Amino acid sequence: MSALKAAVIGCGGHAQLHLRMIDKEPRLHLAGVAEIDDTRRKQAQAEWRVEGFADYRRMLDACKPDLVVVATMPGQLKTIVIDCLERGVHTSVEKAPGMHADETRAMAAAAAKSAGKAIVSFNRRYFPEVLALRRMVEARGGAVHCAATYNKPLSPPMGTSAWHGLAPDPIICDAIHHVDLLRWLAGSGARAAMPIEVHAQVHDGAREGAHRHSALVRFDTGACGVLMSHYGVGGRVQRAEVHADDFSGYLELTDSPPVVEPYQAEGARGQLLAAPLDLEAVGGADFDETRHFVDCILADEEPWSTLADAVHTMRLAQAIRDGHRGPLHE
Ligand SMILES: NC(=O)c1ccc[n+]([C@@H]2O[C@H](COP(=O)([O-])OP(=O)(O)OC[C@H]3O[C@@H](n4cnc5c(N)ncnc54)[C@H](O)[C@@H]3O)[C@@H](O)[C@H]2O)c1
Repeated sequence: MSALKAAVIGCGGHAQLHLRMIDKEPRLHLAGVAEIDDTRRKQAQAEWRVEGFADYRRMLDACKPDLVVVATMPGQLKTIVIDCLERGVHTSVEKAPGMHADETRAMAAAAAKSAGKAIVSFNRRYFPEVLALRRMVEARGGAVHCAATYNKPLSPPMGTSAWHGLAPDPIICDAIHHVDLLRWLAGSGARAAMPIEVHAQVHDGAREGAHRHSALVRFDTGACGVLMSHYGVGGRVQRAEVHADDFSGYLELTDSPPVVEPYQAEGARGQLLAAPLDLEAVGGADFDETRHFVDCILADEEPWSTLADAVHTMRLAQAIRDGHRGPLHE
């Protein structure tokens, strides 16, 4: 089988991770990059020995990629993603997938008509450690409760007027990873749980960007979720936990690789399970969103994080930002 041709649009900070994932995936070959900033484009061209274009449409015409990663800021995604999908290109969309759920819906509508598939880069779903823990929960009847923490010191320009039109508020642009993780931990198989009720408190600090949220979410699976996300506090901390009958899993995601502590009910304190996580059962320690996307393209299957599914994560993140209290309707 000849490798699929891949391309990247937007070669900023985070695109470097995508370029490395493409490089380590043997079924992909990097065919081109597009970047409007001359310095960044030249850097990417030199580092990856690949043709570079200032105009992404020219790159699509010249390189004819099978798969493209769009790694621009959220406010720049919609037009580019729809262009790619209208050309039938398999398209990976960075988070947040647009400025608002309406933009995600518009991209999802383009995906529904496209010969290309679309995946949203909710990369926590694809961490092997998360997948292995999720399997342990599923084997015990599914999640009854999950919780996620996503905190950062003030991170300008995030959450400031400098990002107006480029990115939504931090909980939607950034902590959306853990909003989505709650849905994923509460779900099972290829399905993320649907939020049906939200009780959120927003208590922003006085400084620009000091956005603070505490939220309780009820899911259609019966599981309950809690999110705490605070910007303008002391530490960058990303944690999660998931509980099932007689089982608890604690996840430390602040650094890579994530660390998981699974506990089985035994005695008064419970027992920390000593056996290593079964990463081989979930695709191996190297599994990631890029590998999953290629698997789906070759098997003609839908990825786990489609644009249509991402609409629900966007709705939930927005509801939390809005301090919504009550049932969450579509
Ligand atoms: N999954 C994660 O953990 C994670 C982490 C960081 C950032 N991100 C996401 O990645 C995206 C990019 O973030 P970043 O920090 O790399 O931003 P960035 O500003 O460093 O990079 C974006 C790049 O896109 C380029 N660009 C904009 N419009 C373009 C166009 N029409 N054609 C070609 N290039 C264009 C810009 O010039 C810029 O270099 C954001 O959506 C962000 O939310 C995800």
